[in-house]
Amino acid sequence: MARYAYVNGRFVPHTDAVVHVEDRGYQFADGVYEVVTIVGGRLVDEQGHLDRLTRSLNELRIAWPVSPRVLKILMRRLIGLNRVTQGTIYLQITRGVAPRDFKFPKHVESSLVLITKRAGAFATPAQLQDGVKVITIPDIRWLRRDIKSVSLLPQVLGKQQAVEAGAFEAWQVDPDGNVTEGCSSNAWIVTSDGTLVTRYANNLILNGVTRLSILKLAQESGIRFEERPFSVEEAYAAREAFVSSASTFVMPVTRIDDRTVGDGKPGALSGKLRQGYLDYARERGAS
Ligand code: PDD
Repeated sequence: MARYAYVNGRFVPHTDAVVHVEDRGYQFADGVYEVVTIVGGRLVDEQGHLDRLTRSLNELRIAWPVSPRVLKILMRRLIGLNRVTQGTIYLQITRGVAPRDFKFPKHVESSLVLITKRAGAFATPAQLQDGVKVITIPDIRWLRRDIKSVSLLPQVLGKQQAVEAGAFEAWQVDPDGNVTEGCSSNAWIVTSDGTLVTRYANNLILNGVTRLSILKLAQESGIRFEERPFSVEEAYAAREAFVSSASTFVMPVTRIDDRTVGDGKPGALSGKLRQGYLDYARERGAS
């Protein structure tokens, strides 16, 4: 079956989906993106992703290429064309195509690209049964991590370092020794007294849409939680740890660097939150 992508006004075969060499996304990483999960053919937390996209565009003063209403229609058309029932849709908006010059170009239309990806499963049985390993690395990124910018070089290097260390993710650490977040996920621990902890959202992390849904779920279920920084040492001593993102939901972490987390098995609270989030995704995905 042919796979399509959407590029600046047209649905085209994936193999022919190209952008201009002077697209500012390509030259300056002057653009933003979102990754939205598709479960049962429906978009999970669509409004949360669109709200964050609105914010990212506003912060960078990039114009909407189409209205949010039209964007929703285009996403659904691509998902339908590619018959994706489970997977993700990637959307990217850049400031547009213009001769290379640092300052904002005038009278340029923003570029819009949509790509879908099918996923058989969002996690392997081994990852769910044994949990995954994370390593810790210095956070070398800029100070506007709240913007979901396509400028991802530190995360590319961090993820590669993780893979080479046999790990699933790298947790980035600020100069005070506190974990900011993963390269493409938010970081969580459960302390020895059972409190769920994740860093509060400011300019130093991306406020994950999954993060917000998990916090809401915790609140509704009466789970005690704190939004505050936690150190690498505190994470080593935690009872449980996990990462969250649109594409991994809640992924249990059982090793941090060369330390075992808790009893080395995915924790009960992590499991409960993963199940809760999956139920939420199935029940409340936008149609
Ligand atoms: N990454 N922090 C960072 C740095 C991220 O890149 C992501 C998402 C998250 C989690 O956000 P959300 O829950 O909204 O997915 C946190 C996506 C999945 C990616 O780049 O592929």
